[in-house]
Amino acid sequence: MNRRRRIYEGKAKILYEGPEPGTLIQHFKDDATAFNNQKHALIEGKGVLNNRISEYMFTNLEAIGIPTHFIRRLNMREQLVRSVEIVPVEVVVRNVAAGSICKRLGLEEGTPLPRSIIEFYYKADELNDPMVTEEHITAFGWATPQEIDDMISMTQRVNDFLSGLFLGVGIRLVDFKLEFGRQYDNDMVRLIVADEISPDGCRLWDIQSQEKLDKDRFRRDLGDLIEAYQEVARRLGILVENE
Ligand code: C5P
Repeated sequence: MNRRRRIYEGKAKILYEGPEPGTLIQHFKDDATAFNNQKHALIEGKGVLNNRISEYMFTNLEAIGIPTHFIRRLNMREQLVRSVEIVPVEVVVRNVAAGSICKRLGLEEGTPLPRSIIEFYYKADELNDPMVTEEHITAFGWATPQEIDDMISMTQRVNDFLSGLFLGVGIRLVDFKLEFGRQYDNDMVRLIVADEISPDGCRLWDIQSQEKLDKDRFRRDLGDLIEAYQEVARRLGILVENE
């Protein structure tokens, strides 16, 4: 019986009230969803892997001075995070064409992009997270122009850093999604990276074989998901204990 107060439950995670004010507990579930919940499965062990991989990513980002919501991992499935007001915009950065950009622009999957491209999507399940422009974001007040600038520069830094980190272990970072939150501290407010960074929200291809080591395996029935996530963790030197 879990008596903690549940603040929010999403497709792959639950947020509980944290032990101190300004904190939350982020719980990683085993649920995998795709195409806005049209495809759903329970994949045993996914939550544990994503908890560890995301801890690794956020710890490294903090180490290079990028502020995140991560405080510390609590157990196999949970981490303590700072409570933020989520900006209702998903930021996607692409280095190689894959997924929706291929459909939208008629590009062949795997085409290197002339430069990294940042896109914004409005977080709204009922609308299938439509792509939006900076104009929409400021007109509807989802973020200020300054916040958009901050999201772009942080996303570029995260992309540069993570691209190098993955390249070092033979993985191409094709694209990924970031979410940002506002952290209020007295009368100060700053944007920090929130949510998670895991193979659920990234495209990761083996440099040699081009094998996909991310959630596209689930979306497109390309093979065992856990095996791929374990391979990512193993290459990064992350030890994932058995539950
Ligand atoms: O589907 P699309 O090609 O636009 O996705 C781009 C990247 O953003 C992929 O790595 C995907 O996993 C991630 N993404 C996500 N959550 C969404 C939409 C995209 O993690 N709601």
